[in-house]
Amino acid sequence: MSLAMEKLDVRPLSPVLGAEVVGIDLTQPLEPTIRRDVYDAFCRFQVLCFRDQRLSKDQQIAFTEQFGTLERHIARNRGTDNPLVHTVSNLGADGKPSGKVGSQEWHTDKSFRPEPSLATILHAVTMPPEGGDTCFANMYAAYDALSDAEKAELDRVRVIHSWELSQQKHGRTATPEEIADAPPMSHPLVRVHPDTGRKCLFMGVHASHFEGRPMAEGRARLAALEEHATQPHFVYRHKWRAGDLLMWDNRCLLHRADSNFDAARYPRVLHRTCLRGTAPA
Ligand code: SIN
Repeated sequence: MSLAMEKLDVRPLSPVLGAEVVGIDLTQPLEPTIRRDVYDAFCRFQVLCFRDQRLSKDQQIAFTEQFGTLERHIARNRGTDNPLVHTVSNLGADGKPSGKVGSQEWHTDKSFRPEPSLATILHAVTMPPEGGDTCFANMYAAYDALSDAEKAELDRVRVIHSWELSQQKHGRTATPEEIADAPPMSHPLVRVHPDTGRKCLFMGVHASHFEGRPMAEGRARLAALEEHATQPHFVYRHKWRAGDLLMWDNRCLLHRADSNFDAARYPRVLHRTCLRGTAPA
C-alpha cells in the first residue's frame, strides 16, 4: 500500500509502526510542502525510513535542522570531530570491530533531560552483511492496551529518570562532570504527545523508579510495564541497508539495538543527530 500525501510517496513498513518515504534526496533542502508532509508522516508512522541516502555530517545536520533545534550530547561525547553528530559504532580505539554493541536496552533518547529528544536521525554508513537491527516499540499501543484501572493509576505517576543510575545498571560509574551535566529528572509516566494529543508510556533504561514511592516497588513496576510494552505485536524490527536514514519519534517509542551479527568481525557504523523536544506533560 502506498499513501499519497500531498506530494509524498509513503509506504508502511509494518502494521504496528514505520513507513518508507520514497523518492527524496535528503542532501537537498526540502520544499516547504514536502517538509510539512514528512513531519505529518513522522507523527503518523513514528519511524520514517529514507533509503539510499549518502549524507555528509554537515548535510545530516542541515537535514535535521529543518525540523527543529539540534541537541548536544552527554558530556562524554564532546571533543569528537563534529560534536553535533554522534558516531554510533562497534569499533574499538584501534578502528577494528570490538565485539561490543551499545544501546541494547529499551530506551528513549535522553529521557534524563528536562526536554528529552523529540526525534533521532540515524544514518547507516557501514552495516554488517546481515543483522545489527534496531527494534522499535509503539508506546501508544502499549498504553492503549492497559486496563482502565491501570491507566487511571499510571496517569498520576511520575518517574525519576537518571543517567547516573542507568550507568550503574551497566556496571559503569558516571563521572562527576556527567552527573552535573545530567542530574536526575522527574517526568510523567504517561505523557500526552504534543502533536497528536494521544497518550503514551514514557520510560526505558533511564527510568529508574516511581517518584515518592519505594525504589524497589517502582523498579519492579517499570520492569513489568516494559515487558508488556515490548511484546512482539507492539514492535517493528528495522533491518538496515547501508544508506538508510531513519528518523524516529522518541516521544512515543522505545528503541534498542540488536547485536544479532558478528560484532567482533563486521563494522557497524551509523551517524546520529537528535532534535531537542519539550518537557513531557
Ligand atoms: C541509539 O540508541 O540511538 C542507537 C540504536 C542503534 O544503534 O541501533
